Amino acid sequence: MRRIIAPSVLSADFGNLERDIKMLDRSQAEWVHIDVMDGVFVPNISFGFPLMKPMRKATNKVLDVHLMITAPEKYVTRFVEAGADYVTFHYEATENIEECINLIREAGAKVGISIKPGTSPEVLDELLPKLDMVLVMSVEPGFGGQKFMPSSIEKCEYLTRKKQELGLSDLIIEVDGGISASNSRLLFDAGAEALVAGSSVFGAESPEQAIIDMLNS
Ligand code: DX5
Ligand code: ZN
Repeated sequence: MRRIIAPSVLSADFGNLERDIKMLDRSQAEWVHIDVMDGVFVPNISFGFPLMKPMRKATNKVLDVHLMITAPEKYVTRFVEAGADYVTFHYEATENIEECINLIREAGAKVGISIKPGTSPEVLDELLPKLDMVLVMSVEPGFGGQKFMPSSIEKCEYLTRKKQELGLSDLIIEVDGGISASNSRLLFDAGAEALVAGSSVFGAESPEQAIIDMLNS
């Protein structure tokens, strides 16, 4: 089983973004998680295309873009062009799921779908063979620093069983929200392979050590 930490840039110091991304570049984190919010799908606005370029320039790590936006099919291609390696959109954000998947693939990136805490993982059953990743939200999307919802663990277990049943060993289960070294082990044990962490990394005295602590949990 892989163990990937994806620190969320949402908790970085935007006044020192290059410094913070370069710190991640030196760290044991394999991915950098980029939260894009439109103020419509979620009640918060973060950032968009203009920040992709400096981030892509500052690191060769995998850029894991999490789109919390309505009608993602309108924008996914531009995120791939801006340097995203993974583009994840929300199951709840569009009627055009197949189109979105195809656009991301055609543009040359890996495809993820995310589900909010109130969405059952069963809705993805038929889609799983078409995906590279499923992102299970363990908080309501929109803000960093919220409390972890343990119901996400059962969702990971369900998706792990589905992966085995369907022979999808490459499908990555990622979990996002309220994650630190105190719960990372539970999620890895439930079959998650990529964990997003914002405040527990950037709020730590040593972000690099916080990443190592989750990896070794
Ligand atoms: C929430 C975002 C998360 C957030 C995680 O909508 O998708 O990626 O930055 O932050 P923490 O780890 O602080 O919960
Ligand atoms: Zn996220």
